[in-house]
Amino acid sequence: MKIRKAVFPVAGFGTRMLPATKAIPKEMITLIDKPLIQYAVEEAVNSGIEQMIFITGRTKKALEDHFDINVELGLELEKSGKLELLEDMRRISEMVDVTYVRQKKMLGLGNAILCARDIVRDEPFAVILPDDIILSEKPVTAQLIDEYAKVKKPVVSLMRVKPEDSYKYGIVEVKETVDDRFYRLGSMVEKPRENPPSDLAIIGRYIITPEVMDALENVTPGAGGEIQLTDALKHVAKYNDVYGYGFTGKRFDCGTKAGLLEATVNFAAANPELREELKSIVADLGF
Ligand code: UTP
Repeated sequence: MKIRKAVFPVAGFGTRMLPATKAIPKEMITLIDKPLIQYAVEEAVNSGIEQMIFITGRTKKALEDHFDINVELGLELEKSGKLELLEDMRRISEMVDVTYVRQKKMLGLGNAILCARDIVRDEPFAVILPDDIILSEKPVTAQLIDEYAKVKKPVVSLMRVKPEDSYKYGIVEVKETVDDRFYRLGSMVEKPRENPPSDLAIIGRYIITPEVMDALENVTPGAGGEIQLTDALKHVAKYNDVYGYGFTGKRFDCGTKAGLLEATVNFAAANPELREELKSIVADLGF
C-alpha cells in the first residue's frame, strides 16, 4: 500500500528550548528563515506524501496560521510589488492538506502517534519529528518509503552514535544485517545509560504499520513515565519483522540549543546568499 499520510507529533513541551517554546511550539522555531515544521512538511511533500496530520498541544495556533492564508499580508505584499515573496507565501498555504488532532494529555511520543489512529486507519504511514532536521540529497522519508516498499514492514531511520551519546536515543539491537544499510531489528532500548545493544540510534523518521498502532494501544508507560514508540516497536519485533535503515544525510537535533546552532551554521554555509557573510562573521570572531 502506498504511503500517503505523514504524522507530525508537535505537542511536546519543548522544555530544552524554553523560553522560546513558552508560547509557540518548538516546531515554529526558525532555522535561517523558515520554521522547522516547514522543512519537515517540504520533506514530506518531496517524498510523495499527500496528507499531513499534526498532533498538536496547547500552542497550535501559530502552526495553523503558518499554513493558512494571510489575507492582509497578501494584500500588503501585492501593494508593495513584492511579488516573489507573495508567491512564496501562497505556496506555503497551498502546499498542504493539513489535519489537526489534539493530544489531550502529554503522555509521550507513542501516545501522540496513537492520536492519529482514526485518520490513518489501517494504512501504513510516515512519522516525521520536525526537530530532527536532515540535510540530504534524497529526502529521508523518501528513503524509508523505498525500503518499506521492499519489505512491507515497519522501518525506522538509523544513525551511528558514540557510546557516550547513547543515553539521548533509542538504541537498536541488530538481528540480521540485510545489506550495509538495512537491518532486521531485535530488541530496542530507550535512552540506555549503560550497555547499549549497538551504536545504531533511532532518529525521528519512521514508517509505521497498523500492527505498531495495535501494540501502542497496549504499551504501558516506560522511560520518563511516557508511552514510548520504541516500546511498541520492540514488542512487534518479538513476533514479526521490524527493519532499520541507515539513511544518507546529515542530521541536526534542532530541539537543543547546540543542535539548532549547528544546523544554522551548516544551512548558512550551504546557502549561496549567506555563505560569504557566514565566513566573515566567523572570521571576526577570531576563533
Ligand atoms: P521530545 O522527547 O523531544 O520532547 O519529543 P519535547 O517535549 O518535544 O522536548 P523537551 O524534551 O521537553 O525539550 C519528541 C517528539 O514527540 C513530540 C514532540 O513534539 C517531539 O516532536 N511529543 C512528545 C508529542 O507530540 N507529545 C508528547 O506527549 C511528547
